[in-house]
Amino acid sequence: MEFNNILTSRRAINFFDPEKDVEDATLRQIIEEAAMSPSSFNLQPWKVVIFRDAEKKKALRALAWDQPKITEAPVVLMLLGDRDGWQEGNRTFETLFSKTMLPEQREWFINATKSLYGTSELSSQAFANKNVGLFAMSLMYAASDKGLHTHPMDGFDHDGVKKAFDIPANYWIPMLIAVGHAKPDLEIHPKAWRQSFEEMVLKAY
Ligand SMILES: Cc1cc2nc3c(=O)[nH]c(=O)nc-3n(C[C@H](O)[C@H](O)[C@H](O)COP(=O)(O)O)c2cc1C
Repeated sequence: MEFNNILTSRRAINFFDPEKDVEDATLRQIIEEAAMSPSSFNLQPWKVVIFRDAEKKKALRALAWDQPKITEAPVVLMLLGDRDGWQEGNRTFETLFSKTMLPEQREWFINATKSLYGTSELSSQAFANKNVGLFAMSLMYAASDKGLHTHPMDGFDHDGVKKAFDIPANYWIPMLIAVGHAKPDLEIHPKAWRQSFEEMVLKAY
């Protein structure tokens, strides 16, 4: 699909076809494509938990405002943002360092990321969420490109979900994303209101 069409036609779909699956290979492809997203220092502080199992999705739905799309969609992805992903010792941090940097860059790298993201809880939280937000958007566009539909969700009990699925403390869950095919004959309405250019531009220097 033309990228412009993907931008304008993607919708957060509320009703999924439970009979129509998403192949593992397609799911793998959209996650790998999402990984092409930019991230600060290329730190990629994102992880994904894949839900396909009916019982697990039921348990997730119970903690997510009872949203039916969680059990209807064949796949629900829980995106995780690593609040420690900027610091020395973190596995992804160390992998990035060993694959792309030289030993003499280490001190600079540790100090640079710390000065941006290690100064407060808010800065580490923002680090995790902004990067995962970009990953999430790429993932939804990659899914649209394969003819799939998605629905991002914030409506869940964050701490309850973390506890129920044993998610380590360093992760924040920025959103869940349902992935699948729209229910047959679902009427997909045109895009809802968007701010105009003038409304979006707060200042122009
Ligand atoms: C971070 C995020 C969280 C959202 N959470 C929910 C949710 O929990 N339940 C829901 O029905 N829609 C949720 N939405 C969907 C939005 O309502 C939807 O994207 C918005 O109305 C624009 O519609 P569109 O995506 O179809 O263009 C969420 C969207 C985003 C980006």
